[in-house]
Amino acid sequence: MSFTRRQVLAGLAGLGVAGLGVGGVRYWLGRPENIATHDYELIAAPLDLELVPGQKTPAWAYGGQAPGLELRCRQGERLRVRFINKLDVQSTIHWHGIRLPLEMDGVPYVSQAPVLPGEYFDYDFICHDAGSFWYHPHTASAEQLGRGLVGPLIVEEREPTGFRHERTLSLKTWHIDEQGAFSEFLVPRQAAREGTRGRLNTINGQPNPTLELPAGQVVRLRLINVDNTITYRLNLPGGEARIYALDGNPVQPRPLGKEYWLGPGMRIDLALRVPAPGQELPLRNGPLRLATFRSVASAEGAADWPPPLPANPVAEPDLARAETLRFNFEWAATPSGDVERGGSYRYWQINGQAWDINDKTCADRPIATLKKNGHYIFVLRNMAQYQHPIHLHGMTFKVLGSDRRKIIPYFTDTYLLGKNETARIALVADNPGVWMFHCHVVDHMETGLMAAIEVV
Ligand code: C2O
Ligand code: CU
Ligand code: CU
Repeated sequence: MSFTRRQVLAGLAGLGVAGLGVGGVRYWLGRPENIATHDYELIAAPLDLELVPGQKTPAWAYGGQAPGLELRCRQGERLRVRFINKLDVQSTIHWHGIRLPLEMDGVPYVSQAPVLPGEYFDYDFICHDAGSFWYHPHTASAEQLGRGLVGPLIVEEREPTGFRHERTLSLKTWHIDEQGAFSEFLVPRQAAREGTRGRLNTINGQPNPTLELPAGQVVRLRLINVDNTITYRLNLPGGEARIYALDGNPVQPRPLGKEYWLGPGMRIDLALRVPAPGQELPLRNGPLRLATFRSVASAEGAADWPPPLPANPVAEPDLARAETLRFNFEWAATPSGDVERGGSYRYWQINGQAWDINDKTCADRPIATLKKNGHYIFVLRNMAQYQHPIHLHGMTFKVLGSDRRKIIPYFTDTYLLGKNETARIALVADNPGVWMFHCHVVDHMETGLMAAIEVV
């Protein structure tokens, strides 16, 4: 495979400096003055955070914050991001859920060469779909995402939607101890189970924040699970909330109900009717409070539920002529070589194949080859006791049904496949390339549960 040549970081002095990190590192943020080449400069660099009062956590940040700077773009428009690597490790940026050309997909050795320390890479693609998306590296994911390299990407609808207010909430549970020091991001015996859990729940980098919302208004809440391993069991007891979109794609609005399971990589857009001033509502993960919404007086007139969001231009799979492919996800520890000497752990496999995270040639052996513009049904079968948020790059798929729960068919990029569940999804293979197909529990993807699907 051949890559666009890496660009060497040079001649960047003189661009608009917008912030100074805690560690004295300079960041260039937001829209640069010279919009001829790009819309955003996004620097990845070390940044000390105070997640535990009085203690320092040596995080890695995009644009001087972790979770990273919120990037925004309008549907149908081009987004150009100059990614500047000021870490001392190589990295890339993957745009989760965005349907883009392979060269922009951010997968090392598949779509580009890794961006080395001190270098930059220009990402440039059109955002065809509106919705809540996010970005993260696709290199050493357990550590890089674990240290904070995760951020929201919001693609605004072409026309006003009827929501006058919105908030983005990035959910992350940090792997840190009481002193703010990082603990292990990937503990092998946990990777063989549900994945290594962090300890400190945060929203937008704050533990248990209070978020003020305007009374009487209907606010769009964009909840993004940027965590390595945790499936949040979201609930809003006492709140009046409706689901408007799942994983960036609109659905017919319906009540949130008792609980929604948001796996790693997944998003949910809720409309929340904010109660009378002074009232508080807890946002919870099961019984645990993640944040408090506090209603504050608003001068605006009361708002009603906005209409459904307009559908994204995703091709509808034709089930009558679709070819069916089967994918089995199973636990199967395979000999992994000597881990001490650079071998990898392999606990998981898809159709009998485990991805070796240290082998740069795995994508040369795709697990399936699809014909361009062909219609496909995938049968996803989880043969294990642990759930897997199954994610596909490059294309959006439609969830058709499950043997475990009632599904209202919907488009997504990540499906939370429950333990021992079999689900059916469908897609039109309309994007040529080599696309990663993996579990978004980072521990699982790094220990085998990843494959490449080729569209030619
Ligand atoms: Cu967020 Cu390969 O994915
Ligand atoms: Cu992705
Ligand atoms: Cu998994």
